[in-house]
Amino acid sequence: MAKTTSTLALAQIVLDRRSGIPLHRQLYNALREAMLTGRLRAGTRLPSTRTLAQELGLSRVTVMNAFDQLFSEGCLEGKVGSGTYVVYGRNGRVLGRLADQKPALRVPRRPRLLSLRGKRMGKSLANYPKWVSSTASFAFQPNVPAIDEFPFRIWERLLARRWRVASRALFAQRDVRDYVPLQKALAEYLRTTRGALCEPEQVIMTTGSQQGLDLISRLLVDRGDAVWIEEPAYLGARNALLAAGATLVPVPVDHEGLKVEEGLRRCPQARLAYVSPSHQYPLGVTLSLARRLQLIDWARRANAWILEDDYDSEYRFVGWPLAALQGLDRYRRVIYLGTLSKVLLPAIRLGYMIVPPDLVDALLATRLVTGRMPSVEQAVLADFIAEGHFARHIRRMRHVYAERQEALIEAIQRDLNGILDIQPAAGGMHVVACLPPDVDDQVASQLASTHGVGCPPLSLYYIGRPKRRGLVLGYGACNKRVIDEGTRRMAEALRTLPH
Ligand SMILES: Cc1ncc(COP(=O)(O)O)c(C=O)c1O
Repeated sequence: MAKTTSTLALAQIVLDRRSGIPLHRQLYNALREAMLTGRLRAGTRLPSTRTLAQELGLSRVTVMNAFDQLFSEGCLEGKVGSGTYVVYGRNGRVLGRLADQKPALRVPRRPRLLSLRGKRMGKSLANYPKWVSSTASFAFQPNVPAIDEFPFRIWERLLARRWRVASRALFAQRDVRDYVPLQKALAEYLRTTRGALCEPEQVIMTTGSQQGLDLISRLLVDRGDAVWIEEPAYLGARNALLAAGATLVPVPVDHEGLKVEEGLRRCPQARLAYVSPSHQYPLGVTLSLARRLQLIDWARRANAWILEDDYDSEYRFVGWPLAALQGLDRYRRVIYLGTLSKVLLPAIRLGYMIVPPDLVDALLATRLVTGRMPSVEQAVLADFIAEGHFARHIRRMRHVYAERQEALIEAIQRDLNGILDIQPAAGGMHVVACLPPDVDDQVASQLASTHGVGCPPLSLYYIGRPKRRGLVLGYGACNKRVIDEGTRRMAEALRTLPH
């Protein structure tokens, strides 16, 4: 179907009635310029001369004169009963050289000036490897939940109900505060399941943890501030902090989680520490109670903040999860981040924070700079929780993920024995499979991707020299059939690994 010129394209035609250049000539120049720069492309239908004359406040004869000139140059073509079309490049004398119809934009001679922040964002960020693509991967992409198990029907029903009962308060919402029933529901949920210390007004909604990481980095980190970050760590956290200009201090992680002693030795005066205490990302260990207390004590003495990323603690298969670090903190130094990307779906784009009471207003103001909340989805989520679907879904998924992890471990031991060494994890949706020390995990990850298996190399998550080499395997979105086929493909791929 032919594209028709939008009013927007026509709005860019500026005519100067006081200039000595005749109006038909100005219109001709403007249309020709639009064709040269690609704003008007071949195949676009122009409005009739009558409409254009009306829109531009010209006489029809003026428009016809301009069109005639373009017709004679081969830039326009008339089709009987259909209209006038841009055809430059076919046999036009003037524009014939631009046959490929690419916009003829000039390349700026001098480099564009980005802000320092812009340069930091563009250059220093850690990138997820292109070959691990969530859409192209057949199996094992981390951070993807079981989409096939999501209760779409229920969500759809609750959403439709909210749209039907159009409440003015919700639909005309321009408040900086969040949807209060949701704040209450989440505060209750976090108090009972995570041992959090919070009142509803401390719960601040986000569009996912990534927004939380960005907001906190903007609000609490100045350029050059030292920030402890787990080594290895979640790339999203690293990037948000780097973008804010933080000087990252990698603090190693062992079987008890972040080595607080080491942080104290490397940089006691850091401004903030980023940790994932219940299920360290990506290694999967839990921060021990002794280390939690040590960390909080450091934050109190150093007047520093702790950013607790509690991204998947709902899925614990063995024993009880340790309560959130936030619940242990009597000094209000901890900011807690939660997400619904794992529990529900990444595309729902909802997450939350619990912030100390004295940070609430500053955080809301920061959020206002970057966008507005709440969305209608907040009300839907509140209904989803209130009607018991949330708790039911989590209970059900805990079994699903425990089974999937078991199936993955079995399949790896069967198909990749001697290549991948895998230990069960106490929870979550991913495991780390270690490679022999002489194998480059980047090469292994790339090889796996050629067989449709998208699993990032463990070394990607380290800032310094990686202590271990391996692959991060997500099983959240993989049923038994996909797991078996995935490990078979991996075995095929990794057989060719250079040792
Ligand atoms: C450690 C960690 N934190 C947070 C998130 C959640 O990010 P978001 O809520 O922005 O989807 C993820 C998901 O990939 C993660 O792995």
